[in-house]
Amino acid sequence: MKNRIAIIGFGTVGQGLAEILLSKKEFLQKKYNYTFEVVAISDFAYGNVYNSKGLDLEDCIKVAKSKKKFSKDITKWDTTSLIRKCNADVVCELTYTDLTTGGPAINHCKVALETGKSVVTSNKGPAALYYSKLKKIADKNDVDFKIEGTVVAGTPIINLTEGPLAGCEISKIRGILNGTTNYMLSEMEKGMDYNAVLKVAQDLGYAEADPTGDVEGYDARGKVVILANVVMGAKLEIKDVECQGITKITSKDIEKAKKENSRWKLIGSVEKTKDGNVIGSVAPEMISLSHPLAGVMGATNALTFTTDLLGDVTIVGPGAGRQQTGFAILTDLLSINKKNK
Ligand SMILES: NC(=O)c1ccc[n+]([C@@H]2O[C@H](COP(=O)([O-])OP(=O)(O)OC[C@H]3O[C@@H](n4cnc5c(N)ncnc54)[C@H](OP(=O)(O)O)[C@@H]3O)[C@@H](O)[C@H]2O)c1
Repeated sequence: MKNRIAIIGFGTVGQGLAEILLSKKEFLQKKYNYTFEVVAISDFAYGNVYNSKGLDLEDCIKVAKSKKKFSKDITKWDTTSLIRKCNADVVCELTYTDLTTGGPAINHCKVALETGKSVVTSNKGPAALYYSKLKKIADKNDVDFKIEGTVVAGTPIINLTEGPLAGCEISKIRGILNGTTNYMLSEMEKGMDYNAVLKVAQDLGYAEADPTGDVEGYDARGKVVILANVVMGAKLEIKDVECQGITKITSKDIEKAKKENSRWKLIGSVEKTKDGNVIGSVAPEMISLSHPLAGVMGATNALTFTTDLLGDVTIVGPGAGRQQTGFAILTDLLSINKKNK
């Protein structure tokens, strides 16, 4: 049976997912026996559309790319009513991240799960603030709540720990969880100071006009909370994680690290203590050039898992991007589909 999908938030990731679904339609059917229809899309910019038999996805992408409003299959339902009333099997929650209240995404996820629809999201808000509550609602309704895209985009992290690393006990996870700050630290090594590098990062679209979430470490802290709670079974809140960004790193610090055969990285860390607690932190660290994370430059992300059976396992990959995050959503859609077959 065709998997019926609703896409809530048709921005970079929503459109990235739609493009992947269209371009890989035949491959997905042939290789995974995965067939789908996108039945609903909701977006502030383009409007809300619904067709229980399937929308014209190609046309929706065209409309969004030309920054117009949808004109076919318009529904008067607002986003929440659309989620509640549509016939989707799975809702892809791809609206903006709010790491303080989690809204409006938390409500979108809750309504979807309560009405028997699985949720796949790249939105850190619901995952960092309400994972266990939403997972409980999902379990109660016999549906899935999948969040691969919330940590390091499509580079497998959550699914890696639940799949290939299953059976290992993970005692520590450390790594580079924010591409913007890693890009900035990499460029500072070439001689530019913090403010000049920030301007370049903003011009390139790596950093937002208000860069606080990245440079103060708040984005990485959200991911640390997700890793602690989802991978390590902790109950951390954002306030429990000590957090320091890169704003105090000076050109002098960069030179000092060079002299000591080291370099600065903003490291997010989750660790099981001897008494069984889990602690998390985000802070800049000077790490030796021989460390596997030291060679990870530019906007790339990387995480090292310390495990009992394999020792250290490091995964390196993109942590953002239209296609890279769209892919994260696809992997979760495929895994739900495989489970339900
Ligand atoms: N882009 C990446 O590389 C990446 C990587 C990892 C995770 N993520 C996460 O994935 C999510 C989507 O990111 P994105 O880059 O696609 O963001 P985006 O380009 O800003 O797209 C979000 C879209 O959702 C719309 N929207 C916001 N609130 C809505 C609501 N209540 N109902 C319907 N539509 C709503 C926005 O409309 P308006 O613009 O008109 O408000 C916008 O078009 C975010 O939570 C982000 O943190 C993104």
